[in-house]
Amino acid sequence: MGQLLFFSNNKNKIIEIRKIFKKFNLKLLSLRDLDISDEPAENGRTFEENAKIKSDFGFNKTGIPCFADDSGICIEALNWKPGVLSKRFLNDFKSTESCFRSIIKSTKKTLKLKAYFKTSISLTVKDNQNLIFNGKIDGKISVQAKGGFGFGYDPIFIPKNYNKTLAELSTKEKNEISHRSIAVTKLINFLIN
Ligand code: IMP
Repeated sequence: MGQLLFFSNNKNKIIEIRKIFKKFNLKLLSLRDLDISDEPAENGRTFEENAKIKSDFGFNKTGIPCFADDSGICIEALNWKPGVLSKRFLNDFKSTESCFRSIIKSTKKTLKLKAYFKTSISLTVKDNQNLIFNGKIDGKISVQAKGGFGFGYDPIFIPKNYNKTLAELSTKEKNEISHRSIAVTKLINFLIN
């Protein structure tokens, strides 16, 4: 495969994914390289649907094979929400701390501790033909927010078989087990085989 477009404006994700691709000698283009600033509405009901909306949009705009990802957290005590609305859910509280307090309160009240992060990557290679690569990490909600690494919901999520939150793990440790790295590894295995 020659060129591949990663449909994302998230600087940190682009850096992270470029690093992985370099190891495999694959050339990755970003939206900035192609001066693309418009994005489709992410109005899918699932991570898979949102990832496909973005990768189809990128392919249709450029004709270059394109992939996009969509992720979030699903929390048992919230009936497995916020899911695809994870970013909005966090932003709707007056602070990250109050969001975490509310989640922890619901978890304690219902005694439903489970949670998982999921990433779906969609790769569009031809008109309306896409492939999906999923990654998931199971765990539970912590009784208190802890740790300074990572982002988003990392401080309240304890991966299964661990006794630390994702925010207490280094970036390298998180990348070894994360939903995102599982999905990216599946994508890369597909591309190099
Ligand atoms: P995105 O689709 O990857 O941009 O993720 C949407 C939202 O889900 C983010 O804004 C975060 O709030 C949350 N999220 C996704 N992945 C992670 C993660 O690895 N750690 C913590 N929060 C995450």
